[in-house]
Amino acid sequence: MALSELLDILCCPDSGEHLQLTDTGLASSAVDYPVVDKNLACLYSNPSVTRFQWGSKIKHFFDSEREHLKQMQQLAQTCSLASTRKRISLQHEARHKNLALMQKMLSAWIPDKALPVAQSSQQIYSYFELLFRDWCWGDELRPYIDYCVSALGAQHCERVLVLGSGAGGLSYHLANALAQSRLISIEHNPFLALASHHIMQGKLLKIHDYSLYPTELAGSSTKWEIKQAPLQHENHVQLLATYPKLPLLEKSVDAIIAPWFFDILDIPFDAALQACTRFLKPKGKLVFMGPANVHKPHYDEQYCSDEIRELLCQQFATVDLTQQSLTYLDNPTASQRRLESVAFAVAAEPIYSEYSRETSMPKDLVYTPELNQYKLKTATIHQILACIDQSISVNELADLLVSRFGFEAHESSHYAAAFIAEIQSGIKQG
Ligand SMILES: C[S@@+](CC[C@H](N)C(=O)[O-])C[C@H]1O[C@@H](n2cnc3c(N)ncnc32)[C@H](O)[C@@H]1O
Repeated sequence: MALSELLDILCCPDSGEHLQLTDTGLASSAVDYPVVDKNLACLYSNPSVTRFQWGSKIKHFFDSEREHLKQMQQLAQTCSLASTRKRISLQHEARHKNLALMQKMLSAWIPDKALPVAQSSQQIYSYFELLFRDWCWGDELRPYIDYCVSALGAQHCERVLVLGSGAGGLSYHLANALAQSRLISIEHNPFLALASHHIMQGKLLKIHDYSLYPTELAGSSTKWEIKQAPLQHENHVQLLATYPKLPLLEKSVDAIIAPWFFDILDIPFDAALQACTRFLKPKGKLVFMGPANVHKPHYDEQYCSDEIRELLCQQFATVDLTQQSLTYLDNPTASQRRLESVAFAVAAEPIYSEYSRETSMPKDLVYTPELNQYKLKTATIHQILACIDQSISVNELADLLVSRFGFEAHESSHYAAAFIAEIQSGIKQG
């Protein structure tokens, strides 16, 4: 599906302003949103800053992976057991080839100068195994596909949003099964987004699955060649975007599918759940699929399925929740299998509430989407401040953003003014 078919519902994730098509992608009056691969638009909030932050994570991962590879190469030559040398050299070869693939795919993302990486569950290598689960290992997605098709297939859902689409397997099968719907997949990890985008176009992806603890040498690594038939209908588009700051207008989609998503975000589960309602039309549906027990560090967030049902009932007029016991990330070469109780729920007719941004200030520091955003912004501002040791004008800072941090020249003034305003307001508040 062409991006132009989405123009009526796409907006700037920060200001809500409608976007226009340009020669290089999409744009609001102040910010460009480039297309980074055929039809894959980069619609992050503050896209240049977010790309820079992802670029820093990628650079750190590449540097540390190169270090690991060096050590492995040495061990593959010096270990006393011949079978240990064999195991390590198989693992080394797999990781070396995966690194080469990632370097090729992500070459445009690497900044000259990287930020220190903030602690986060979301790194570039997170969820790498989804590629094998979705496209290689077996049919683990079947119960999820069937549940979504039975929840959405019978009625006409024009626009269906898939949150955290990962390696893209579920979106691919649903786009084929729901011919009348138009699917929008949202993923923030550039490697997973680019890899799934590549596969869904019917292109070949060669990737290596390796095991750190194989039960026999042959299980140390497996080479996969992923090649799928292209999608049957022109009804799918993938966007690089970060939930909950999505580039979509309020009340613009008929259904949202959230598979294994709300529980893994760096924001509270209930806030994540609530944030999706504003994108749904009044008769819209949420298809929730994920663990029946939420693993979070705080006692009051370790929800079981009854609490998940109650939370859904606070946000939707009708809720139907069931549970199934299913294997999860079931790698056929692994020595242990993970069995999960999975909650499947359809919740319909959102009860809209004010977005929690405006609520009064709590005493504790609550981990909200805004706090997470603030953390990332602060790290970026520190990096910029480190380069400033005398007065600087907007134009001079704009030049610095271009030369040191790789910002695009034509939008650097917008970001420079925004950073200066942010720094001045920080100084004012002491
Ligand atoms: C646990 S995985 C689930 C993937 C897939 N939905 C599935 O069911 O297997 C979570 C996915 O959400 C993505 N993700 C995490 N935080 C996100 C955010 N704030 N915005 C968009 N995607 C995000 C991750 O990169 C990952 O692909």
